[in-house]
Amino acid sequence: MKFFVDTADTAEIRELAATGLLDGVTTNPTLIHKSGRKFLEVVEEICGIVDGPVSAEVVALDHETMMKEAEILRKIADNVCIKVPLTIDGLKTCKALTDDGAQVNVTLCFSANQALLAAKAGATFISPFVGRHDDNGFDGLALIEDIRLIYDNYSFGTEILAASLRHPIHVLDCAKIGADVITAPPAVIKMLSKHVLTDKGLEGFAADWAKTGQTIL
Ligand code: E4P
Repeated sequence: MKFFVDTADTAEIRELAATGLLDGVTTNPTLIHKSGRKFLEVVEEICGIVDGPVSAEVVALDHETMMKEAEILRKIADNVCIKVPLTIDGLKTCKALTDDGAQVNVTLCFSANQALLAAKAGATFISPFVGRHDDNGFDGLALIEDIRLIYDNYSFGTEILAASLRHPIHVLDCAKIGADVITAPPAVIKMLSKHVLTDKGLEGFAADWAKTGQTIL
C-alpha cells in the first residue's frame, strides 16, 4: 500500500519524506490556497522533495483548456501527475493525457460508476473521497469496497487512491479492503504511529533504565 500526503505545506512534506514512508503527494486548489504560495512554484518544490507522483489539479472545466493547463503542469517535472475532475471533459482529458504517457489522477469520485468510467479512460489513479462521502450520510468505505470489486472483476490497472481520509481507522479500513494508495493530511499519517501503550511502555523503560545508572554512549 502506498502512502501519499494530502498537503501543499512543503515543511510537512519534507518532514514526512525524511521518514522514508512517503510515496507521493496530492494537492488540490484548496490546499494551494491554504499554502498562500504560487501554484506552479509550490508544485515544483514538492516535485523536488519526493520522487513519487505529485498530483497537481487543473482548474478549467472544459477539455481544451484542461489540456493547455496540463501541458504547463507537465513541464514542471517528470513526477507531476495531472489531476482532473470526474466530468465528461475531465475523462476526455484523462484519456488524451494517459494516451500521451502522462500520469493522471481522476478526482472528486463519489460513485463506483464514476470509478468505472475513470478506469476505462485509462486513469493512473482514481480518487474516491471517503470523508466527504461520510459527511453527507453515505458510506465512504463501502464505495472503496465496490470499486475494489469492480476493478478486480475486470483487472483494471487504475490504482484506487482513497482520499479525504479523516482519521487512522479510515486508513486501517482502506488497507483491509485493499486500496492501492491512501492520501491523508500529515496529522493523520503521524497519528498512525501513536499508541497510548507505546507511550506508557516507553515511560516505564526510561524510568527503569535511569535506575540502572548506565549509558550506552
Ligand atoms: C484528494 O486528493 C483531496 O485533495 C483530498 O483528499 C480532499 O480531502 P478533504 O475532503 O479533507 O478536503
